Amino acid sequence: MLRYTKTAMALHWLTALMIIAAFALGFNMVDIPGITPTKLKYFSWHKWLGLTILGVACLRLLWRMTHFAPPYPSSMPLWQKKAASVLHGLLYVLIFAIPLSGYYYTMAAGIPVVYFGVLPLPVLMAPNPELKPLLKQVHFMLNMLLLGGVGLHVLAALKHHFIDRDDVLKRMLP
Ligand code: HEM
Repeated sequence: MLRYTKTAMALHWLTALMIIAAFALGFNMVDIPGITPTKLKYFSWHKWLGLTILGVACLRLLWRMTHFAPPYPSSMPLWQKKAASVLHGLLYVLIFAIPLSGYYYTMAAGIPVVYFGVLPLPVLMAPNPELKPLLKQVHFMLNMLLLGGVGLHVLAALKHHFIDRDDVLKRMLP
């Protein structure tokens, strides 16, 4: 069986873990009423984590562009191969678009981001009260798309493992 490389697996599972954490933190922090020190702390953690995901996404894309992924099993119908490639493409786009929408939303709100409290990040846009609600909505909707996309991705992996009984899931497992 042709497996993904150790680097590809590490980047894949690290991204998965960080996305689950950023997602859970995102939904919980917005539900905290008022402005409390805990809420502000969670917002900072969420932004640092989200920007780390963006950094790892850049590494992943570089890795993917310079290495081959193992081919799909020959038993897989063409439509499934095409659907898998489209879904993987969408997931790649989202791991860039979601952190960037969060970053632009934060800049539209006029809030500086200091990465892990030590590295001030560039301000690429002036505060913009008109764009702010739109960017917030974009960040939310892209996250809903990610939820649906990841759901399909997981269901497809489980179908390969338990119904088709091929190596598609195993080759991404250490
Ligand atoms: C892959 C990375 C990220 C994921 C999965 C993610 C996910 C989420 C989720 C699920 C919410 C709750 C949405 C809602 O109920 O309105 C949220 C809110 C938020 N996110 Fe992200 N996020 C990511 C990256 C970022 C980044 C990089 C920043 C900024 C630098 C950011 C800034 C925010 C802010 C400020 C909110 C609060 C929105 C509000 O004011 O209600 N996010 N995020």
